[in-house]
Amino acid sequence: MSSSDLKFISRPTSTLKGTVRVAGDKSISHRSIMLGSLAEGTTKVSGFLEGEDALSTLAAFRAMGVEITDPVNGQLEIKGVGLNGLKQPDAPLDMGNSGTSMRLLTGLLSGQKFDSSLIGDESLSKRPMSRVAAPLSLMGGQINTASEGRPPLQIKGGKYLVGIEYPMPMASAQVKSCILLAGLYAEGETAVIEPAPTRDHTERMLRAFGYEVKTEDARISLRSGGKLIACELDIPADISSATFFMVAACIAEDADLLLEHVGVNPTRDGVITILKLMGADLVLENERMVGGEPVADIRVRSSKLKGIQIPEDQVPLAIDEFPALFIAAACAEGTTVLTGAEELRVKESDRIQVMADGLKVLGIKHKVNPDGIEIQGGQMNGGQIDSHGDHRIAMSFSVAGIRAKKPIEILDCKNVATSFPNFVELANVVGMSIETSND
Ligand code: S3P
Repeated sequence: MSSSDLKFISRPTSTLKGTVRVAGDKSISHRSIMLGSLAEGTTKVSGFLEGEDALSTLAAFRAMGVEITDPVNGQLEIKGVGLNGLKQPDAPLDMGNSGTSMRLLTGLLSGQKFDSSLIGDESLSKRPMSRVAAPLSLMGGQINTASEGRPPLQIKGGKYLVGIEYPMPMASAQVKSCILLAGLYAEGETAVIEPAPTRDHTERMLRAFGYEVKTEDARISLRSGGKLIACELDIPADISSATFFMVAACIAEDADLLLEHVGVNPTRDGVITILKLMGADLVLENERMVGGEPVADIRVRSSKLKGIQIPEDQVPLAIDEFPALFIAAACAEGTTVLTGAEELRVKESDRIQVMADGLKVLGIKHKVNPDGIEIQGGQMNGGQIDSHGDHRIAMSFSVAGIRAKKPIEILDCKNVATSFPNFVELANVVGMSIETSND
C-alpha cells in the first residue's frame, strides 16, 4: 500500500465540551474474534471495534471457515468451530496494518494441521517477527520469514509442538499472547515469564471462555487439552483511543469532557498515571467490572501540565499512548523525559523519530535518545507534518492543533481507520476543528 492522500487540517480551538464513547478496544476486539472462533458454541460480541485492524482478523477467520456475522453497531456473532475446526485458507491471510493480528495468528497457526502464510501492508512488512518466530521454533514450530525476520511469514502446519518456559526478552503482550495461543496446541505446559507486566487481555479472555490460565507473579502458563466455551463479550471503549481526548481536554483552555465506558485495565492505565503525575485534572467515575475487564467513565478538564520524568515501570502500561503524551509534554511547563521506551521504534512507525520530526516542525525543543526523548514545553507553531501512515501519530498532531498558533496540516492519515474510524467526527462534535481533505 502506498502512502495515502488523506490529509487532516487541525485548527486552534479553546472550548471542548461533551460526553463521548470512543471506539471499542482494539486489543480485545482482535481476541474476541480469535477465541470466539476457537470456542464451542456461538459467541455474542458487543462493542466490537469496526476498524480495519480488527476487521483484518475477522476476515482471516472467515477465510479459515468460521461463520461470523457482519458487525452492526459493534455487535456480531461468531459460530465457533472448536480448537481443531479451522480450515486451510485458499490464499495468504492479509493482516493489513495490524501487528497484533500477525503476531497472535502466527502462534495460533503454528498449532494447526495445515500450512498457511501471512502478509501485510508496507508498514507491517517492515516490522520484526523474529520475536515470535524464535520462541515458536523452540516449541517445534516452523515459521519462515523474509530477510531480517520480516513478513511475509510461511507457517508450516502439522508440526508437533511441545510446551516451553520462555523468559521474554522484551515486555510484549503480542509475544506473550502468541506463545500462549500456540500453547493451546502444545504438549504439556507452556509458560512465559514477563520482564515487566504487559496487557493481560488474552489471559482474562481465555478465562472468560472457561480455559484455565495461571498467573503467578511474572509467570503466565496454561496447559493444552482444555476447551473454550462460547460466551458473551461486552468490549469497553479503547483507552488508547480515549487518550487523544484526555490529552485534548488537558491542553484546551476551556475543557470538560466525559469519556464513557473506557477500559481501565491496570495493565493499560499508564496514561492515567502519567497524566496525573503531570498535573492533569482527571477523575475516574462509576468504576465497574464488565465481562472480566475493569471499566470507568473518565472526566477530564483543562489542566496546567508540568514536565516530569516518566517512571520506566509505566512504559509498557502506556506503550501506545506516547505519541499523544508527547503532545501533552509539548504543552507542559518544563521538560518531560522518557527513557526505557526503545519498543516505540518498532511500532507502526518509529514513533520516537517521527514524533520528534513533527515536534521540530512545530518549533518544540527536544532531544532524541535511542530509548526515548526529552521534550521541553513551549508554544507550538503550525506547519505540515508527515504521519508516515501511523494512525496514532496522525491523531496526536490533530490534538496538537488545539494549542498551535496556526493550523497543522497532517499528511497520510488514511490509517486512522485502522483503530478509530470515527475519530474526526467525534473530535469535531466535542469542539475540535479538524477538516479532512483528499487533495
Ligand atoms: C498489543 C500489544 C502492544 C501494543 C499493540 C497491541 C496487543 O504491542 O503496542 O498496539 O493487542 O497485544 P506489544 O505487545 O508488541 O508491545
